[in-house]
Amino acid sequence: MPQHRFIVCSYTQNLTSGKVSWQAPSNIALVKYWGKYGEQMPMNASVSFTLKNCNTKTSLTFEKRNFAKDSNHNGFDFEVFLDGKREVSFEPKIQKFFERVEVYLPFLKDFKFKIETSNSFPHSSGIASSASGMSALALCLMDMERQMQPDITEEYFIEKASFLARLGSGSACRSLQGPMVVWGEHPEIDGSTNLFGTKYPFAVHKNFHNYQDTILLVDKGEKQVSSTVGHDLMLDHPFAEQRFRQAKENLSKLIPVFKNGNISEFIKIVESEALSLHAMMMTSMPYFILMKPNTLEIINRIWKFREKTGSNVCFTLDAGANVHILYPQAEIEAVSKFIKTELKQFCKNSEFITDWVGLGAKKL
Ligand code: PMV
Repeated sequence: MPQHRFIVCSYTQNLTSGKVSWQAPSNIALVKYWGKYGEQMPMNASVSFTLKNCNTKTSLTFEKRNFAKDSNHNGFDFEVFLDGKREVSFEPKIQKFFERVEVYLPFLKDFKFKIETSNSFPHSSGIASSASGMSALALCLMDMERQMQPDITEEYFIEKASFLARLGSGSACRSLQGPMVVWGEHPEIDGSTNLFGTKYPFAVHKNFHNYQDTILLVDKGEKQVSSTVGHDLMLDHPFAEQRFRQAKENLSKLIPVFKNGNISEFIKIVESEALSLHAMMMTSMPYFILMKPNTLEIINRIWKFREKTGSNVCFTLDAGANVHILYPQAEIEAVSKFIKTELKQFCKNSEFITDWVGLGAKKL
C-alpha cells in the first residue's frame, strides 16, 4: 500500500515542548468532488483554485505528557480554541482526525496540545472552514514531525501534510499549494493521486492568472445536510456512474482550456459542474436542495449580464447556497460595479467577500 511511505517507526530527534503556527487557505473546486470510498478517497478527480484571503491561522502548542501524573493514558490530550475562546464543539472532529492519522503520526498521544485557530472570514458566513482548518492543522503536525526528523524532504513534507489533511476533510488536501491543485487519479495528469493534492502540472494561460472569486454570502446558516452525508448518498445514487464519468471528462476538457485561455469554454464547464453537483443532491434518496431563491436570482442575473455586456463573469457553487463569482482580473472594475449594483441585494446583510487565486499555505 503506498500509504505506508507515510508511516514512521521512529524519529531521530527528541522534542519536549514548543509552538508552531501555519496559515492555510480555502479553495474553490472547478471540477467538483462529490462521492467517496474507503478512507476519504474521491470517486473522481477534481481541480480547484486556491484562494488568497479566505484562510485559517492555526497555532499548535505542544508539551510532552508526564505519564506518571497523567491518568488519561490511552487517549489524546488536546483543547481547541476559536478566536481565543475554548470551542468544545470542534473537539469531536479533531478527536476523529487524530484517531485516523495516529498511525501516520505515532507521537500524537505523547503530547498535550493546545490548538488555537481563527478564520479570516466570519465563522457564521456559511464558508466551510474545514478545508483551510484541516490543512493548517496538518501542516502544524508535519512541522512537529520535521523537528523530530529534520532530513525529510520538502516534497515529502507537503505530500504527507496534504495526505493527512485529506483524512480530516477530503477537499482540505487541495488547500496547501497554489494556484491550482488536482486531487484524484486522472489518466491525463501524471502524478495525480487519490491520496493527496498535487499542483496542477500544465500550462495556464495569462487569462487565468489572478482569477477573481467574489463570494456572495446568500445564506449564513448551518447546512441542513453535511457534505459527509452528501458524499455517502452518492454510493447508491442512480446517476453516480455518469456523474463520475462527466467529472473525468470535464477535467480532460479543462486542460486545453487552461492552456489556450479560452474563457468561454471555461465558463461552460465550470457552471455545468456547479449545477451537476446540485443536481446530484436533488436526485439522491433522500433528496435535498441547498440552493436558496437568492442563489437562483443571482445565477439568472449573471446570465443576463453576460448576455447584455459580453462579460466573462460566471459562477460556481460549493455544497451550500453561497455563490462564488469567478471573473478575470481584466474585468475587476466592471464586475465589481455589477456586484454592488445588482447582486449585493441578494446577500444576507449585503455581505460578500472579495478574493482571488492565491499561492497556498505559509508558516507564520
Ligand atoms: O471536503 P468535503 O468533504 O467537505 O467536500 C467538499 C465537496 C465540495 O465542496 C462540494 C466540492 C469540492 O470538490 O470541494
